[in-house]
Amino acid sequence: MAHGDETPLRSPTGCPISPRAAAFRPFERPYQEDPAAALAWARAEEPVFYAPDIGYWVVTRHEDVKAVFRDNITFSPRIALEKITPPTEEVQAILKRYGYNLQRTMVNEDEPDHMERRRLLMADFLPERLARHEPMVRRLTRAHMDRFIDRGHADLVAEIFRDVPLKVALHFLGVAEEDADELTRFAAAHTLNTWGRPTPEEQREIAENVGRFWQKANAILDRMIADPSGEGWMYETVRQHFRHPDIVPESYMRSMMMAILVAAHETTTLATANAFRLLLERRDAWEELCANPGLIPSAVEECLRMGGSIIAWRRIATREAEVGGVTIPEGGRLLLVMASANRDESHWENPEELDIFRDNAVEHLSFGYGAHQCMGKNIARMEMRVFLDEFTRRLPHMRLKPGQSFEGLCNIAFRGPKSLLVEWDPAENPERREPALRERAVSFPIGAPVKENILRRVVIVEAREEAEGVKSFLLADPRGRPLPGWSAGAHVDLVSGGFRRKYSLCSAPGEEGRWRIAILREAEGRGGSRHFCDALSEGAEVQVAGPRNHFRLDESAARYRLIAGGIGITPILAMADRLKVLGRDYTLHYCGPSRARMAFLDRVLADHGPRAQLHVSDEGTRLDLAGEFAAVTEGEQVYACGPARMLDALRELARGWPEGALHFEYFTTGAATLDPAREHAFEAVLADSGLVVEVAADETLYAALRRAGIDIQSDCGEGLCGSCEARVVEGEIDHRDRVLSRAERARGDRMMTCCSRAKGRRIVLGL
Ligand code: HEM
Ligand code: FES
Repeated sequence: MAHGDETPLRSPTGCPISPRAAAFRPFERPYQEDPAAALAWARAEEPVFYAPDIGYWVVTRHEDVKAVFRDNITFSPRIALEKITPPTEEVQAILKRYGYNLQRTMVNEDEPDHMERRRLLMADFLPERLARHEPMVRRLTRAHMDRFIDRGHADLVAEIFRDVPLKVALHFLGVAEEDADELTRFAAAHTLNTWGRPTPEEQREIAENVGRFWQKANAILDRMIADPSGEGWMYETVRQHFRHPDIVPESYMRSMMMAILVAAHETTTLATANAFRLLLERRDAWEELCANPGLIPSAVEECLRMGGSIIAWRRIATREAEVGGVTIPEGGRLLLVMASANRDESHWENPEELDIFRDNAVEHLSFGYGAHQCMGKNIARMEMRVFLDEFTRRLPHMRLKPGQSFEGLCNIAFRGPKSLLVEWDPAENPERREPALRERAVSFPIGAPVKENILRRVVIVEAREEAEGVKSFLLADPRGRPLPGWSAGAHVDLVSGGFRRKYSLCSAPGEEGRWRIAILREAEGRGGSRHFCDALSEGAEVQVAGPRNHFRLDESAARYRLIAGGIGITPILAMADRLKVLGRDYTLHYCGPSRARMAFLDRVLADHGPRAQLHVSDEGTRLDLAGEFAAVTEGEQVYACGPARMLDALRELARGWPEGALHFEYFTTGAATLDPAREHAFEAVLADSGLVVEVAADETLYAALRRAGIDIQSDCGEGLCGSCEARVVEGEIDHRDRVLSRAERARGDRMMTCCSRAKGRRIVLGL
């Protein structure tokens, strides 16, 4: 460490090491307690730094961690399972005695071998193949809960979270039931051996256990090799070994057998314990899940973001390269701290808040990213969802026992408590009143959560006639908490009676913490607006998704012209309110058939009177769009919402305006559904994950990507919102969305996967 005038410590590239970097101790508190908080300074000041204590470059920001994961050629994973604390000679001798020889598995293998093998062994991990394991997870979870449900207290790690993932892992792998305690001891030894900093004495005992673990894994494998006809992923691996010994060599199988027993088990045990701790510590979130189990998949992602069980992973630079502006020399070792990336202020809104409605939580990096992204992610997700569904239903009144410590194994990769003590009053168990509850499960499709299922319960606290055929509803949290803030242009999806429709938010000043929406009752529509207007009244509980904003107001323009057609006034009014608060120069054109049918007319006139121009058809003051908007000057921004024909006309006019001056929001595309007779199949090559996905003529690119296990998100599903966007590296795009501007389309480097397709037979995506 640098003192006074002494020469400061320097990194291998010769750069001075800052005092905080020099003081970074990953095996000690506060890092061991809360790695993300302990690295907040780094994210803000020195996002990539050299840590002399371990000889690694530490990468802390989401963007940088993802970029390193993405490029597994420059940043090789070959050190992922290397012992971070060099073994003593004595330890080496112990391991040798057991014949220990852990080499390449999947997770630390370089290309091209890795991808060839991964492809060959991927089938069992695909979403459609995993659903069949769920009944077993449920059965096991219920049976374990039965053992303690009437007792009133339990250690969830010891009594269920260790045992069930282990049994599921063994079943998935095809291994007969093994002694859980022994395997747990072995897994802990493997963790400390690889990622810990044990003392020489501790190392001895660890080495004995690692040696035994190696032998046990080999004995299991020998039995499989002798008769490879069994069911399970390891059997499949053995069969592939016989078919393709060059791609799946024996040394790989031996190493993999040991590594996968940990990868498939310990990770899920710890992630589940972390998730339950997080949710029980934030009682509101737990209660929300009890009331609304549909949120479980999104809660699991949010818990993986806040409390993933793998907090950091390693790569080594195969050539000199830059990460976050810092030069990493060839051979430089990198510690990618996913726990820090997952709480990076520059990527997440309110990163410190556990928000189970967060709809981009799936962007967490707890499963890694790219070619090596966790193959078992959907098994882990499924198990965690089943646990949460069973516990929130059968033990909603469960609480954390106060005063416990949540200590885990001291190491740089795996994180989770050794025990999790909970208690409850068995007399309150809902099953005592309603025994059938035990069997009432909610199942979720395998894979990343679907954005549209992230639904919040709200109650209608006011229903009001705003104009002929237009009703507005004021929505509030059922427990009286303020609803989250939103920005002008945002919308929510209203879900009720089997219908789901998008409505812009237009709460008036003074309605903070509550959301107002307005609905035009469309007599000839598809039934949603009729249902909402006719069946919903004050006191009704409904569900909403969002708020989301795909119609953001750029607050930096010099002048604004806002145009609303009919019910399109809702986002436009919110924008006008905002511009008024900001003191900006704006005009508001409001068009409608008659005053009686124009919602919020009073508000428009009272709040925006001097700036508002009304265009009322039955008064003969219809807006002359072509005349009024023939020209738009530089610095002026036009925001429009209204009927499709009005927006189409504006898009035509905007051809003569400065680029990017028109902003609009459609609520439907009117786009025809996919007609396979007129489409062609194509191939999507995924540059980051090394996969090739076939897209059939009758499916969307988005659906094909989800089928291949890629965690891409969609919201509108019809090219309106931009949430399903993918980077395009190569190939011509047949754009069918309404998100991208002409200039953006022309660049050809992004596409909306829910609707757009490849023009040719092949497209390369940055996924
Ligand atoms: C790889 C995390 C559960 C099997 C990985 C990686 C991480 C990870 C961080 C390295 C990713 C990279 O280098 O980009 C987790 C977490 C889990 C979990 C947090 C639980 C919450 C599972 C399960 C299985 C599994 C249940 C198997 C049944 C694998 C395999 C790889 C892997 C085979 C290597 C993939 C490759 O290198 O191509 N996991 N994992 N994991 N995981 Fe998981
Ligand atoms: Fe909205 Fe694709 S999901 S554009």
